Amino acid sequence: MAPVPKGVRPTSDRVRESVFNALGQFFDGGEVLDLYAGTGAMGIEAMSRGCERAVFVERAGQAVAAIHENLERTGFEDRAEVVRGDVGRALGLMLGEGRAFNLIFADPPYRIAKTEVGALLSRFGALLAPGGRLVIESGEAPTGVAGGEKGVTRRYGGTFVTILERSEITMIVAVCPGSFDPVTTGHLDIIRRACGIFDHVVVAVGSNLRKKSRLPAAERARLIEKVTGGLENVSVEVMEGLLVDFARDQEAKVVVKGLRAVSDFESEFEQAQLNRKMYPELETVFIMAAAEHSFLSSSVVREIASLGGEVRGLVPEGILETVREIYSSADGNI
Ligand code: PNS
Repeated sequence: MAPVPKGVRPTSDRVRESVFNALGQFFDGGEVLDLYAGTGAMGIEAMSRGCERAVFVERAGQAVAAIHENLERTGFEDRAEVVRGDVGRALGLMLGEGRAFNLIFADPPYRIAKTEVGALLSRFGALLAPGGRLVIESGEAPTGVAGGEKGVTRRYGGTFVTILERSEITMIVAVCPGSFDPVTTGHLDIIRRACGIFDHVVVAVGSNLRKKSRLPAAERARLIEKVTGGLENVSVEVMEGLLVDFARDQEAKVVVKGLRAVSDFESEFEQAQLNRKMYPELETVFIMAAAEHSFLSSSVVREIASLGGEVRGLVPEGILETVREIYSSADGNI
């Protein structure tokens, strides 16, 4: 191998061997992307173990020369591409070209800010082929999404190596839309169950133009925030305009709706088809309401409350008093 240029901190032989042992018999053709490549040792090792092609990204001129020399020495130059420049820019270009890699090595020479981890990981996720893996090497214990809850992190002296499967970094955001006037225990059950399936759920408080809302959207959203506070992967937003535009803004791939009975189906089917026509990549997924909620709707809650009936059990306990107060004044409208 070529001498290690000044300023390059190469992965030690021990760490490199452990990483490849952990990856196992993973290499059968495919492409590897070696970011912050240094001398290119990781990408070259991947090629020697069966990867068909490699792309190396490195900013330092001397390191780029070392990668070229190492590729020449190992006879892999005609199966490799060396990009000299900034990793962020290179990632943007490759995403634009629709490239996909089976293996990505990222050994940033600096600490990635916690706030940037999510964005960086989602770019890596978009560049990984199905079944692909991401290997992140760092001088400090990882934080954020790669902070131990996902992937496997091993420590070798002062080096931390995390291996993540593609499925662990591609976040699936779902939008759960409705008018929630008010949110019921049935809605909350659907939101909770959606949280167990998707990485993040955005509850979208919209206005159904066919119904007149009793409460402004911001107040309906506040009630939902109150009862979803214990769920980590939920956010609540007021939705203005079309659901498809909202989903695009939120980078959501899925719309989740609860389905209570056959009577719901016709209107839900119509909305799902129209939304699909406007935004074909957005999937609508239905979660079956629990049997005990099959009779429950916001309109029955409004009716019972306005006539002075008991709504305990029909709306989440945390907003019971507020619902009783707000919805008990009938004004001829439910
Ligand atoms: O709880 P609801 O009343 O069934 O919720 C209906 C809602 C708000 C989800 C629906 O009306 C909606 O998606 N509104 C946003 C405007 C829109 O996209 N309309 C076209 C739907 S085909």
